[in-house]
Amino acid sequence: MPKVAVDGEIIAQHELAKDVWRMEVEAREIAREAEPGQFVQLQIPGGAFTLRRPVGIAEVSLQKGTVAFIYRVVGKGTKALAQLTAGTVINVLGPLGHGFSCEAKRPLLVGGGMGLSPLLFYAEHAEGKADVLMGGRCERELFWQDIYKPHVQEVFCTTDDGSCGTKGFTTTLLPELLQKGGYDLVIACGPEIMMQGIAKIAHEYNIPCQVSLEKRMGCGLGACLSCSIDTTSGERKKVCKDGPVFWAEEVFDLA
Ligand SMILES: Cc1cc2nc3c(=O)[nH]c(=O)nc-3n(C[C@H](O)[C@H](O)[C@H](O)COP(=O)(O)OP(=O)(O)OC[C@H]3O[C@@H](n4cnc5c(N)ncnc54)[C@H](O)[C@@H]3O)c2cc1C
Ligand code: FES
Repeated sequence: MPKVAVDGEIIAQHELAKDVWRMEVEAREIAREAEPGQFVQLQIPGGAFTLRRPVGIAEVSLQKGTVAFIYRVVGKGTKALAQLTAGTVINVLGPLGHGFSCEAKRPLLVGGGMGLSPLLFYAEHAEGKADVLMGGRCERELFWQDIYKPHVQEVFCTTDDGSCGTKGFTTTLLPELLQKGGYDLVIACGPEIMMQGIAKIAHEYNIPCQVSLEKRMGCGLGACLSCSIDTTSGERKKVCKDGPVFWAEEVFDLA
């Protein structure tokens, strides 16, 4: 799959919720090639950052030739990203890694926190075939509901404090959803502990499950080994090149 480093103009940049930003960048070649689950490495302009920052592709517009990212400000790099304004040019390397399987007829997307960002591209791509189950600490964290509604059949929510949807974690509601049947793939993105729980439940219900892992990255291209993980078969793999999407049984012990 061809990957390119392109200088793209920031078309839009705004804050969706506290410390969560959406940035849309003109990058026609990347938009054309991108598959749900893939990511890019952003070079923060100004020369202060040697390493690029990995972000998932949240939306693609073939018509505009743009890709959009939804990211949380957590450290120096993402803080600098959030200060960039429309019109600034940013270098984008991508699309990187392997995406989710797009064969499913009735996928269930399960996301926690910023894991809901790459799943959004999947939801758009699935053109109304998917449902989404989203988890957060409280209703404020589930600002994603309105963003997802146009792209999915149903939005299910769980919150730790019960302020929206079912009280508990995504794993609290998942068995009930899978019991009703009909889903032929579960895809999960979010905290690793959540994905592990989701994968175990999907395994109990005999439904294939894919998870998207996050590791600290250097090159994003498979050259520096900083994102290496041990898989269940004993083989070492690189999250940037072999992932970030893996079949759950490749990376989690589901027994
Ligand atoms: C494949 C992939 C996709 C991602 N997609 C998103 C997304 O869509 N939205 C989003 O908000 N965040 C996403 N992240 C996490 C995001 O890359 C980090 O939050 C960001 O790099 C932090 O940079 P910083 O300079 O603000 O933080 P600092 O802690 O100052 O970063 C220092 C260094 O650590 C690396 N780093 C820090 N945290 C992470 C992390 N969690 N994962 C990987 N590298 C990290 C940085 O790239 C940098 O090299 C993704 C990470 C990966 C690996
Ligand atoms: S980030 Fe360099 S090998 Fe994965």
